[in-house]
Amino acid sequence: MIVSWLLLALSFLSFSNGSHKTNKYEGYKIYSVTSRLRSVGLAKTLSELGKNVPYYEVFSGFKGGNSAKVMVHPEEQVNFEKLMEENNADYDIISRDVALTLSSEYEANRMLRERIPYNGRLGTERYYTHDEINQFIADLAKEYPSRVFLKTVGKSYEGRSLKTITITNGDARRNKNVFLVDGGFHAREWISPAAAVYLISELVENLEENADLLQDFDWVILPVVNPDGYEFTQTSADNRLWRKTRKPSSANCIGTDPNRNFDFHWNEEGASQDPCAQIYAGPKPFSEPEAVVVGNLIHTYADRGKMYLTLHSYGSLILYPWGWTTEVPETVDDLQEVAEAGQQAIIGDTGTVYLVGSCTETIGYAASGASDDYAYNAGFPISFTMELPFGGSGFDPPASDIDHLVKEAWVGIAAMARKVIEKYPLVNIPSGARGIFF
Ligand code: ARG
Ligand code: ZN
Repeated sequence: MIVSWLLLALSFLSFSNGSHKTNKYEGYKIYSVTSRLRSVGLAKTLSELGKNVPYYEVFSGFKGGNSAKVMVHPEEQVNFEKLMEENNADYDIISRDVALTLSSEYEANRMLRERIPYNGRLGTERYYTHDEINQFIADLAKEYPSRVFLKTVGKSYEGRSLKTITITNGDARRNKNVFLVDGGFHAREWISPAAAVYLISELVENLEENADLLQDFDWVILPVVNPDGYEFTQTSADNRLWRKTRKPSSANCIGTDPNRNFDFHWNEEGASQDPCAQIYAGPKPFSEPEAVVVGNLIHTYADRGKMYLTLHSYGSLILYPWGWTTEVPETVDDLQEVAEAGQQAIIGDTGTVYLVGSCTETIGYAASGASDDYAYNAGFPISFTMELPFGGSGFDPPASDIDHLVKEAWVGIAAMARKVIEKYPLVNIPSGARGIFF
């Protein structure tokens, strides 16, 4: 009796000792897979493996000729390696113990947060919380009351405020064309809100150099579409790889993929009806409040909107419709031309090569019900998903990489915007149409 009490006490002790440590991904590995042969068959095999939750997670297939990254449960690693050999695929291990990788990064981020408190400006030295980002845009609106306008456009499932920042040059001209940009659809893609924040800083604080970008166009930016997920990934190393929203989707599983929840070819290829899947499309189109918010923004600006840009990671890609079929729209040349302007600008800036092409063709698989297709179909002549580069073991570029990743992304975005301005100039400004614009 005494012995078993002792054991119980001991197990409590060790439990509480270990509780701050991450256990969820202990022994998981991340593999980087390349194929010497044509990778179509292998891509299929990997995407089949990806359905085997929780043993496998395919972070990226052979997007545009990149290597595929696959996270594998400890019990499956022998099988996986055998399977890759049978498929004539080569692999490297880029994380030998995902738990270790994630907990050391968690610690590093915690220290940075302590060392660099929010001071009214968001730099590029660390990742920021949703609250800090909302605080930052509120502070900008206060500081630039004639140029910057905030609007609460909805609430996330857990009640966080979704706020757009509208950036103008302050001339109070109404009915300009619009660039609509969002970030943070997928919780773990931290570099995306970081890039949106940098874009905001540039446009607001560097008016002189960017005057042409604000002459006939206003920018409407929603930096974090899925704040519940984004915050969840910041609460512990175990949660770092969360992708979806946070609304329960079944008795056992949580979250919907907000980028499969749009009402355009909803739940067709590349979307799942399994509530536990990473690409769960939701019980019906627009079941998720976060997707509804973006859908409403798209409709609000569809007539004046000339470019919709949604920021994701990773893959170093600039993708245009369609993402639900292998077909491309009739205006493919326009899409290609604008995307190439961004691509070339980034190459000129840092040498990073973003691949350009249609979603389905470039990633190698369809993903239907996404916001880019929805916006294009709603009337935005240019609509892109920009996948920022791989970092760390995938979604986790170290804080020291933020600066160059967001700056080169900004260079690309500015170049695409300039091409759009050239191709879709503002027409029909009714004379006397003046006033504060929201
Ligand atoms: N990685 C993005 C996602 O899975 C790509 C979306 C590209 N767009 C598309 N319509 N398939 O959501
Ligand atoms: Zn994404």
